[in-house]
Amino acid sequence: AGPQNKTYALQNRHPESNEQIEKVLESLRLDDEKLRQIMQYLEKEMEDGLSPATHKNADVKMFPTYVRTIADGSETGQVLALDLGGTNFRVLLVTLLPQSRVELTSKIFVIPQSIMLGEGANLFRHLAECLLEFMRKENLSLTGPRYPLGFTFSFPCKQEGLASARLSTWTKGFTCSGVVNEDVVKLLQNAIDEKKINVQCVALVNDTVGTLMACAYKDPNTAIGLILGTGTNACYVEKLDKVGTWDGDYNEPKQVIINMEWGAFGNNGRLNYIRTKYDEEVDLSSVNPGKQVFEKMISGMYMGEIVRLIILDLMQQDLLFIGQRDGYGDYSTPLFTRGGFYTKFVSTVETDEGIAFANTRRVLEDMGIRNPTFDDCAIVQHICKNVSKRAARLAGAALAVLINRINKPNVTVGVDGSLYRYHPRFKRNMEKCMKTMVSKNIKFKLTLSDDGSGKGAALIAIVADRYQRSQLR
Ligand code: GLC
Repeated sequence: AGPQNKTYALQNRHPESNEQIEKVLESLRLDDEKLRQIMQYLEKEMEDGLSPATHKNADVKMFPTYVRTIADGSETGQVLALDLGGTNFRVLLVTLLPQSRVELTSKIFVIPQSIMLGEGANLFRHLAECLLEFMRKENLSLTGPRYPLGFTFSFPCKQEGLASARLSTWTKGFTCSGVVNEDVVKLLQNAIDEKKINVQCVALVNDTVGTLMACAYKDPNTAIGLILGTGTNACYVEKLDKVGTWDGDYNEPKQVIINMEWGAFGNNGRLNYIRTKYDEEVDLSSVNPGKQVFEKMISGMYMGEIVRLIILDLMQQDLLFIGQRDGYGDYSTPLFTRGGFYTKFVSTVETDEGIAFANTRRVLEDMGIRNPTFDDCAIVQHICKNVSKRAARLAGAALAVLINRINKPNVTVGVDGSLYRYHPRFKRNMEKCMKTMVSKNIKFKLTLSDDGSGKGAALIAIVADRYQRSQLR
């Protein structure tokens, strides 16, 4: 396959430098054949995760979530929800009204770095304090009956029930001590009880599952939930007889949502042959080296950093920002700082069409490049396009595995996450790849699931709360 994506024509360059740039970017390209191979590997890893004999050592954990019934729009009531696991932490009050209408108020709180990397007890105390502050602000009664709460906790958890889940490992920059292997619902509930707040956590939900549920509330063909944000992951509805690790009942409906934790695909080295030296560097400088290999090639926490490393490499080879050596002698600029090129810049740069490069220029100036030339802008945009396209094709191919496995005539995928939402081409690139990889007899649709993790957790909490009350009667 020849160089794809050749959307720029450099003005003042020798053809050789063009070629050298293409050589660097060639390492990012994945043709259809490579993707098909990756799809086969993923399918195999999924089987390993689902089978009791291989589950323990499997990378792709395929955790059963205990969410069995899919929302149908008939759910009503008022619940609280907590959403932890992206860039922000949110507290929400969700009111589900007849005819799938939803009212929602929420407040964003920051989780300081010191808490992300500190003791688990502090993290949960902080969550309870934010919850209390929110309830006061919303004038919710602090003495009446207990409010049910759904906890969107977007990390890999081995669930033992809807309201019982042990953290298997932290991801996405969190490393709080004393939480791995513990039941996070208990940790949260203890912190809530300590503050004497009348709230009962009735369900723990992964963000992918919330996203699937929120989308299913409106579209009954929804069978997959996908997150493309700080991290990436997917869940889907699986038949119980395919889930060897299932230890619950076999009542109808004979299905359960599986939280795949596909971010860990490749931890065993399976994807090393497609990884570049930039991927390796991103991995080594992360808080979890060797982990979340697939996620690190795709999601928002890492994409900007991959671009930054390629930029530095091209500079070193004298292919970019030529003649500016003296200009950027200041190594404290974002360009030279780890994490200095945010993933949202990738989206901004790719928004530029034509030759003016107004956005790209602005981004580069913010990075500390004084007078980026036309060539500089064109090359940086070209890098961004290649990095984000690789991510979109990997995510698209992985989705195709799920859609082909579900094998129904119509499959809707509920999607959420900042990368998907704000990147100008991610969806299109993903769809294009999926059209090639999905069986011809299946029609698929990607639907933005607005605030899935909040609404979905609320839906699941309401169903769980209803069930608990009916058992008490
Ligand atoms: C990480 C988490 C996973 C979550 C995803 C998206 O991969 O491990 O649980 O769903 O990020 O937020």
